[in-house]
Amino acid sequence: MNDTALLLNLVQRPRRLRQSEAIRSIVAETSLSKNDLVFPIFVKDGEGVKEEVPSMPGIFRYSIDTAIQECRELWDLGIKAIDLFGMPKVKTEDGSEAYNEDGIIQRALRAIKAELPDLCIMTDVALDPFTPFGHDGLVRDGEILNDETVDVLCKMSVSHARAGANFVSPSDMMDGRIGAIREALDDEGFTKVGILSYAAKYASSFYGPFRDALNSTPQFGDKQTYQMNPANTDEALKEIQLDIEEGADIVMVKPGLAYLDIVRRARENFTVPVAAYHVSGEYSMVMAAGEKGWIDANRVMMESLLCMKRAGASIIFTYYAKEAAKQL
Ligand code: PBG
Repeated sequence: MNDTALLLNLVQRPRRLRQSEAIRSIVAETSLSKNDLVFPIFVKDGEGVKEEVPSMPGIFRYSIDTAIQECRELWDLGIKAIDLFGMPKVKTEDGSEAYNEDGIIQRALRAIKAELPDLCIMTDVALDPFTPFGHDGLVRDGEILNDETVDVLCKMSVSHARAGANFVSPSDMMDGRIGAIREALDDEGFTKVGILSYAAKYASSFYGPFRDALNSTPQFGDKQTYQMNPANTDEALKEIQLDIEEGADIVMVKPGLAYLDIVRRARENFTVPVAAYHVSGEYSMVMAAGEKGWIDANRVMMESLLCMKRAGASIIFTYYAKEAAKQL
């Protein structure tokens, strides 16, 4: 039998564009770059500390001195931005440690900036590690207060700006905080400090390992009265629109992978950069399955990051940033 008799008469053969690495790469619609990555980093008091977070293999809590070393490694690898999270020495009901000029974040900012002035440093703005309740806002009679919290977040943001933050990143989901923070920063002359708002942040179960890392698990209830319902998408657009109107420079969708439809809608509806947060639970699930030999963790991570980019995120917060940068 003549083989050509079997040939299908096809004009379009999509596989032509997949037949070699060279061809696949020239037709690739999306690519991941080191420029897209932001590394979240946990700092605490002490010296010479580098302790692994039990539920986040490969992720550590650093004291300021070791954090500087880590930042230098990140910078040398081509990662240009970090997001700082602090474990304060004391937790108080008024959250006042959050704006202590000598608090952990403020000291870390000054120390890292002194060594790496060009590194873009973002700081988390929310009260969960700073009060005994583990909620992002102040608490009275079991209620998470809005306006009183915003007042504290403004003080916190200004103290971060004073210590050298390039961006503050409010992750608290209180109403009106972006406008209030923008005004507070401007009043103090910090017009160049940007705001990356966690605009569409969902009440998600994917944050568990992060709360272990920072010892910030809510001591009662959950975060559903301020973080968004995972069932909603139109509401995400409303939150994003409000934050942009109030002065957000960059908006974030969080978590990442399970919320790529939100990332896509944000990208299509707005012109500010959209960030996605590949959160702790997403990271740890992949690492755990990789340790069991059930999946190739590295390939799953790289694919996940690429998918966030494809969905429309131009900035990706990920605990895998360092490993990813080594391969990019
Ligand atoms: C705190 C905050 C959280 C995360 C970032 N900022 C936790 C939460 O809202 O409970 C989660 C990050 C992660 O899971 O990696 N406001």
